[in-house]
Amino acid sequence: MIVDLKKAISLIRDGDVVAIPTETVYGLAGDAKNALAVQKIFNTKGRPADNPLIVHISSIDQLHDFAESIPDDALQLADKFWPGPLTLILKRKPAVLDIVTAGLDTVAIRMPNHPIALKLIQKTGPVTAPSANRSGKPSPTNPEHIKQDYGTNLPILDGGKTDVGIESTVLDLSELPYRILRPGVISKEELSTFLGQPIERETANRKSPGTRHTHYKPTASVKWLDERQSIIKSHKTFYILHHKEFANLPENAIHFRENYQEFARLLYDLYRTADQKGFSQILIEPFTNSPSHPLIDAIINRIQHSVNK
Ligand code: TXA
Ligand code: MG
Repeated sequence: MIVDLKKAISLIRDGDVVAIPTETVYGLAGDAKNALAVQKIFNTKGRPADNPLIVHISSIDQLHDFAESIPDDALQLADKFWPGPLTLILKRKPAVLDIVTAGLDTVAIRMPNHPIALKLIQKTGPVTAPSANRSGKPSPTNPEHIKQDYGTNLPILDGGKTDVGIESTVLDLSELPYRILRPGVISKEELSTFLGQPIERETANRKSPGTRHTHYKPTASVKWLDERQSIIKSHKTFYILHHKEFANLPENAIHFRENYQEFARLLYDLYRTADQKGFSQILIEPFTNSPSHPLIDAIINRIQHSVNK
């Protein structure tokens, strides 16, 4: 059910959850200081309790309500990249609800770059907001996706289609060396150039609890295209291509022609559309020969999580 800003604010103040737009994907928001509201988020999504949530703030002051021992680098990053698709992991204040951090001694925080989300948070105070999909499904990038997962009962604040299309970069500043736990549109190179120091890329899934769980999966199976395979007209297979030239593409294929921003923006929508249209398999061109682009690490990461192993 679509609600206006005023209604969304009153629902969140009353401890309810509302799907809200951000610049990356829609989030399922609830009052970050109300344990029952946060519990409602977990219940609604079917999210495992060991997967912590991101606190969304609307002003830098609020950072100090949740984090402590904040390194100067964090303040500089916040100043440069917020509001924007960068989540910082910092040491938490003891008062932060355990349910938000899944009992960890750190907390994830970001300031979303979306006028509606910021207006809402200015009125409600900080909200926790995981991506608004049902746990395991691709993140929603428009209100239709949320209705696909929950029917029409869940309140949705409509902000149209999201701009980035994949979730924020998660950067762990709670210990040295700093580490990217989840790649996003703000790349490792951009962050390490800005900070003037190397940043590691976490691959062992040691620290980000979310990476242990199934993610971003459509019902159709997702596989990498074998590059010797030809692209054929079919109502079973949907192809996602981006680099290599293929002659006479059928209707069941999309070619991004190296526009990786558009690729990220549409990936989850394509997953969901393929399901809606009854395709049983999605074949994606690998990135072996593609040009380098700051978004490719994040795109491969999301695809890799949905590939049927
Ligand atoms: O773009 C985004 O970040 C979206 C929008 C709605 O803001 N939100 C989002 O939230 O993607 P979610 O819950 O789907 O993903 C949060 C990720 C998970 O992988 C979680 O494990 C990780 O952040 N995370 C949260 N708190 C953490 C912590 N204290 N330490 C390590 N990882 C943490
Ligand atoms: Mg998510």
